[in-house]
Amino acid sequence: MNVSPKSIYIQSQISVIPVIQKHINKNMFVFLNLIFIISSASTARILGYLPTPSYSHQVAYHPLWRELSLRGHSVTTLTTHPINDPRLTNLTEIDVSPSYQLNITLIHMNLVPLSPVSNFRTYFELMMGDVLGAQLEYGPVKDLINDKSLKFDLVIVEYFFSAPLALTKRFDCPSIGVLSLDAWNGWYKMIGSPTHSILYPEYITSLVDRLSLLERVESFITSLIGEYYLIDFVKDIEDKLIQKHFGTNYPSSRELASNISLLFVNTDPIFHTLRPLVPTVIQIGAGSHITSSKPLPQELAMILDKASNGFIYFSLGSNVKSEFFPSATLETLLSTFTQLPYTVLWKINPDTFSNVPDNVILSEWFPQQAILKHPNIKLFITQGGLQSIDEASYAHVPIIGMPILYDQLYNVNKMVRRGCGLSLDYRDIEEGHLKRTILEVINNPKYRNTMKRLADLARDQPISGIEKAVWWTEYVIRHKGARHLRSPLLDMPWYQYFLLDVIGSITLVVFAVAYLLVKLVSKS
Ligand SMILES: *[C@@H]1O[C@H](CO)[C@@H](O)[C@H](O)[C@H]1NC(C)=O
Ligand SMILES: *[C@@H]1O[C@H](CO)[C@@H](O)[C@H](O)[C@H]1NC(C)=O
Repeated sequence: MNVSPKSIYIQSQISVIPVIQKHINKNMFVFLNLIFIISSASTARILGYLPTPSYSHQVAYHPLWRELSLRGHSVTTLTTHPINDPRLTNLTEIDVSPSYQLNITLIHMNLVPLSPVSNFRTYFELMMGDVLGAQLEYGPVKDLINDKSLKFDLVIVEYFFSAPLALTKRFDCPSIGVLSLDAWNGWYKMIGSPTHSILYPEYITSLVDRLSLLERVESFITSLIGEYYLIDFVKDIEDKLIQKHFGTNYPSSRELASNISLLFVNTDPIFHTLRPLVPTVIQIGAGSHITSSKPLPQELAMILDKASNGFIYFSLGSNVKSEFFPSATLETLLSTFTQLPYTVLWKINPDTFSNVPDNVILSEWFPQQAILKHPNIKLFITQGGLQSIDEASYAHVPIIGMPILYDQLYNVNKMVRRGCGLSLDYRDIEEGHLKRTILEVINNPKYRNTMKRLADLARDQPISGIEKAVWWTEYVIRHKGARHLRSPLLDMPWYQYFLLDVIGSITLVVFAVAYLLVKLVSKS
């Protein structure tokens, strides 16, 4: 869908009033105006901007746009994956994906051989320069930024980026940051939430908990690189974007990033790191994006119903495709699947193989949520993206992780530590080991039982993640921000936080007293 921002007016009640005015007498108009004022206190104009061109990043927040619009707010989103549901009449989606011509899959695959740090660095360089730059340059987005008559009461921005937070100054309204994953320590620090590189390792390290000395050193150093080098690198690019697309009288990206009212993270305290969070961080995890999925297509439903021995679902997610594996790996995978007494659904281009046995079904796309909920499923072999892991968890399906890049290594390590499955190194797939691993996860009930126990714990909350997100969004609208919740850490110099002045003062006093005592003793 390609909607010009002008169409936003259709939903704005303000523009309707002059039209009504022509047709009714003045008293009636005053009355109508009063109704408008009353109703406008409870409904707001919300602008959402999620720049990352990845289905999993976008789908995590589809329920939020849906709910807010159903509650009568006028919601406009800039997105690469619109919901495209004509029933959501209060939701206007501007598809920004025509603004860039990039083979996103190829980009991800080129990043695979790099080290985690340069992997993230290159990724951000591409995302900021080529993707975000192109989006801000795109006609409908430019019009939205420059249209002086447009008004919004709240801006919600994907917190991987800070340049779009310039919209808060442009529209003079508060902002909320959202993430489809957990935040980096550097980002938590930016809003004054406590961080610690050993207790809460950065997910670019893929370290989970109970670290050895060597791992603690690695975690500390990676944290420094993440918090100082990577974030500085990104913020420099973003400052240039702000100057270019918004103007020179705008705050820096760092100031904008630490000035958000709230941060929504897609985590929960059971599957994710247990950590202290300031009240401005709202955990909306526990599978908020999971919908009551549509029924399976008839043909697939028949195959799965008939798979009385059970079936395995194998997908590397939306960013990386199975085709990128070397052909020897692909052959090993196929010949192992052939020997199993299970049906195997494999998300891959069906033309990859010329000869496929009956129990293996290939397709470019599968309705993942519905498949994971099918009673005959035995195992999910996944790259370990957070959304996929969430969907498996809440369907109580054990996993074998085959992580490839970004946070996948960390997510898979975490699930293996928790006892919800096993992992395999995709660079070293060997038939015997692959088969044993598959049979172990399927036949040993402990993996599925642990998954179910943890999922039930994670879901046992007073309200769901999405209800929390809606409530807190309206809280920010009601109070025009959440300045009163701002962390005191943000206004404290670092030497005070690390107690350097306190330790210094105490040391001074101790030494002074000791010196005096020594003097006294030596005199007497
Ligand atoms: C749209 O918003 C209005 C209030 O502004 C609300 O009454 C209506 O139910 C909403 N409709 C949909 C389909 O979301
Ligand atoms: C921070 O936000 C407040 C309102 O929430 C606003 O008044 C102030 O100008 C913002 N500061 C910066 C640097 O953006």
